[in-house]
Amino acid sequence: MWIFKRVADIQSFLQKRTSKNEKIGFVPTMGALHEGHTSLIKKSKSECDITVGSVFVNPTQFNDKKDLDKYPRTIENDVIALINAGCDLLFLPDVSGIYPEPSVKKYALGTLETVYEGSSRPGHFQGGCQVVDRLFEIVKPDAVFFGQKDYQQCMVISRLIDITPGFENIEMNIVPTTREENGLAMSSRNMRLSDGQRANAATIYQTLIYLKEHLAQGDLSNILKSAYEKLVEAGFKPDYVSIADAKTLQSVENWDGGTPLVALIAAFLEEVRLIDNMVLTD
Ligand code: PAF
Repeated sequence: MWIFKRVADIQSFLQKRTSKNEKIGFVPTMGALHEGHTSLIKKSKSECDITVGSVFVNPTQFNDKKDLDKYPRTIENDVIALINAGCDLLFLPDVSGIYPEPSVKKYALGTLETVYEGSSRPGHFQGGCQVVDRLFEIVKPDAVFFGQKDYQQCMVISRLIDITPGFENIEMNIVPTTREENGLAMSSRNMRLSDGQRANAATIYQTLIYLKEHLAQGDLSNILKSAYEKLVEAGFKPDYVSIADAKTLQSVENWDGGTPLVALIAAFLEEVRLIDNMVLTD
């Protein structure tokens, strides 16, 4: 695996590959890689001629400096995980490479950035767009791969691709969430759970399945109430349990039977906040 730290170096390398008409797949990450990330690399490998991964802990998407400082940095393990997954090239920039000047760009994300994860983390999705915009500009990918686990981020990036001139030909791939055997979505936060909590955390997945199985046209408040109660009974403090339009993420209380839907959950188990989601309609 090649490792490039400087923008000019990766650009001149990739230019040679694009001139040979090779399809470039790109997986941006903030490191602390687990099987969820490596599944994105493998997916890109299966569809593209060259797979680029990046590891960059983006300061502009953290509204709390303490969270940025606390963010796990495990680059040695990340490099091994990327090599094992078959990644061809790792881009490992520093802050001055990504932001030679502070980014002041603002993206028209509408309510996508204010609901759910956006309401507890103001500015988070603007910051995410700033770095992804810059990374796409540098790597010039043909296809990009994001994990469904961060469903709202996937919708935000799809919007970024739609509204940014020059990005219209980028193919967006949303890769299904990788789960532990019991259904718990893979996340670097799972490391903070005890064995007992880990087993219990699968309740989130079971609750999503419950919502999918009980979905019916009309009022959704009863199934949402039962879902909320299931989580509370299992010892969670839910932040939100919601069903929303799968594209706009506007919450849906009364389903017309046709609008594509996604169920979204964020819940605390002690101090660990877990999120998960499930598309409810095919
Ligand atoms: O999902 C992540 O790890 C980050 O939000 C991303 C997309 C790499 C941007 O920093």
